[in-house]
Amino acid sequence: MFPTLHTHRLLLREIIAEDIHKVFEGLSHPDVIKHYGISFTTFDATQEQMDWYANMIKNDTGRCWAICSKDNSIFYGVITLPFWEKQHRKAELGYWLLPAFWKQNIATEAAQIVIEYAFNKMNIHRLKAETEDDNFGSIATLKKLGFLYEGTQRECEIKDGKFINLEIYALLNKQA
Ligand SMILES: CC(C)(COP(=O)(O)OP(=O)(O)OC[C@H]1O[C@@H](n2cnc3c(N)ncnc32)[C@H](O)[C@@H]1OP(=O)(O)O)[C@@H](O)C(=O)NCCC(=O)NCCS
Repeated sequence: MFPTLHTHRLLLREIIAEDIHKVFEGLSHPDVIKHYGISFTTFDATQEQMDWYANMIKNDTGRCWAICSKDNSIFYGVITLPFWEKQHRKAELGYWLLPAFWKQNIATEAAQIVIEYAFNKMNIHRLKAETEDDNFGSIATLKKLGFLYEGTQRECEIKDGKFINLEIYALLNKQA
């Protein structure tokens, strides 16, 4: 059964086919994709992302949730735990929100319950996050969540014709 999660203000639910409209809105929005690795210029192309979410669940290689208001009436964004490697007890953390909902502690609140789920229900020991070195919102969020900076992969990808640096952050489960 899908692990729906609840926090004080949020519902983290399964991503459904109709969410493609909001996923396209987010992953084509200039402010979101400025620092996000994945973007789409057409609605149809966004199906690739929907398939990525669905396959993660189907193949048991990760988890992903739509971040919504408690009554499920507002779609805020998506949070993922992809690249789950059970033999090493590790996965990655990823997230994006529609800009109208930034700086309201939503990413932090969603990530806190997802991290708790990863550590307690998925038996994960290490969570990694990669972020562009000028993505100050994501860096601040990761630090607030307790992630530690581990290093910078210099000029490791090309974005819009320019090399970018990706910083690595990780959080370890010290209890298990
Ligand atoms: C990264 C992102 C999810 C943060 O979401 P958010 O809900 O605004 O984050 P929160 O409100 O939980 O903020 C967490 C901390 O980061 C700080 N912060 C958020 N955005 C910031 C920004 N642009 N610059 C500096 N600090 C920022 C907040 O002030 C808060 O710290 P504080 O409590 O000490 O004040 C959002 O900016 C986003 O969707 N960005 C585009 C997609 C993206 O970059 N995803 C991550 C890829 S690695």
